[in-house]
Amino acid sequence: MKQTGVVILGATGSIGRNTARVLECHPDRFRVVGLVARCNTEELARQAMLFRPRLTVTTDPERLPELRAALPPGLETATGAESVLELVTAPETDMVLCAIVGTGGLAPVLAALRAGKRVALASKEVLVMAGEIVQRELDTSPGGSLIPVDSEHSALFQCLAGRNPDELRTLWLTASGGPFRDWSSEQIAAATLEDALAHPTWAMGPKVTIDSASLMNKALELVEAHYLFRVPPERLKVLIHPQSLVHSMIELNDGSFIAQMSKPDMRFAIQYALTYPERSAAGKLPELDFSAGLDFDFRLPDRRKFPSLDFADEAMRRGGTLPAVMNAANEVAVEKFRRGEIGFSRIWSIIEQTMAAHEVEPQRDLETIHAADREARVFARELR
Ligand SMILES: NC(=O)c1ccc[n+]([C@@H]2O[C@H](COP(=O)([O-])OP(=O)(O)OC[C@H]3O[C@@H](n4cnc5c(N)ncnc54)[C@H](OP(=O)(O)O)[C@@H]3O)[C@@H](O)[C@H]2O)c1
Repeated sequence: MKQTGVVILGATGSIGRNTARVLECHPDRFRVVGLVARCNTEELARQAMLFRPRLTVTTDPERLPELRAALPPGLETATGAESVLELVTAPETDMVLCAIVGTGGLAPVLAALRAGKRVALASKEVLVMAGEIVQRELDTSPGGSLIPVDSEHSALFQCLAGRNPDELRTLWLTASGGPFRDWSSEQIAAATLEDALAHPTWAMGPKVTIDSASLMNKALELVEAHYLFRVPPERLKVLIHPQSLVHSMIELNDGSFIAQMSKPDMRFAIQYALTYPERSAAGKLPELDFSAGLDFDFRLPDRRKFPSLDFADEAMRRGGTLPAVMNAANEVAVEKFRRGEIGFSRIWSIIEQTMAAHEVEPQRDLETIHAADREARVFARELR
C-alpha cells in the first residue's frame, strides 16, 4: 500500500503529541512529510528524530538556531509562513492535520484545501473564524476534504455517515460541563486558575481546558458544527454528560438517537480522521470496561450560569465576522484571566461587550476576518 504523506501543524501541543503517538503505531501506513510548531523546539526535535520528515518548521524565527542545533545533519529546518504553505501544498503531502491553537492554522488549511488535500481539523478557530470561506473553498476544491478531529464533531461525522439529511432532526453535542458544572455563580466568580485547569475527564492544552470550564469550548464547537455540517442553529443542541463517554449524538425525525462512544481519549478521533474511511485496530486504544457498571447521566446546561451558549447562538444567527469576534474576545479574556488580571466570570462580560460593539461584515476574504479579529482584540484588551 502507498504510504500516506502527512504534515502535522501544531505538532508539539496536546493534539500534536497524540497524533505522533497514533502515527508511531502505523509506521507502514503513514510517512511524516513535515512537522510545524512555534516555541517548543525540544519536542519538535524529538519528533523530527523519530519520524525523519523532509522539513521541520518553527514559525518563530528566533527559535530556528536552537532547532537547527538540536538536529543532526540531513534533517532540514525552516521558519516562516511560506515554508508552512510550501509543505501543506507539496505533491508528497496527502493529508494535513491541523492542531495549531489560535489563528495560525487559517491560511495553511485554506491553502491545503485549495491544493486538493485532505485536512484533518482539530483547530476550532479555523471553522469558527472563517466557516463561510472554508465552505466556499470546499465547494470549489479539486478533491480537498475536511475530516473533523474535535471529538464531538468526529462523533457526529461518524453518526451521520451515509445518512439522508432529510432524516435529521437535531445534532446533540455533549459536554462534560467542566470543573464548575455544579458550582454556584458566586463560587465560579471566585474561581482560581488552578480550579479552571482541573478538568474532570479530559487531558488537554491550557486554553481549551479553561474554555471547557466556561463552556466557551462548547460555544466554539456549536459554531464549528454549524459550518462543518451546514446545519442551522436551531438544530444544534448541547447536553451535559459528565462521564464524557458519549461524544455526541444525532436525533432522527422519528425521535430515535444514534450516539458514538468510547473512553475520553483524543487518539480515537485523531486515528479515525487519519485512517478514514477505514478503522484501524493498530492504535491499541483503551477499551471501555463495563464489568463494574458504567453510569450515563445527561442533563440540559444551565444557560443563566453559563452564558457562552447564547453567544454562540447569536454568532451563528448573525454570521459574517461575528464568530471571529466572539473567538478573539474569548482569547483575550482567557489571557487576562491566566495573568490574574480578571476574575473568571469577567471572561463572559468581556465577550458580551466586545460582540455588542462589533458591526458585522460579510466574510468576504481572510483580510476581512483578520481585521475584525484585530479590532476585537484591541477593544477587548481595553476592557477591565
Ligand atoms: N487538546 C484537545 O484535546 C483538543 C480537543 C479538540 C480540539 N482541540 C483544538 O485543537 C487545537 C490545539 O489544541 P491543543 O490542546 O493541542 O493546544 P496546545 O497544547 O496549546 O498546542 C498548540 C499547538 O499550536 C502550536 N502553535 C501555536 N501557535 C502557532 C503558530 N503561530 N505557528 C505554529 N504553531 C503554533 C504550538 O506550538 P508550540 O507549543 O511549539 O509553541 C502547539 O504545537 C485548538 O484549536 C483546540 O481548540 C483540542
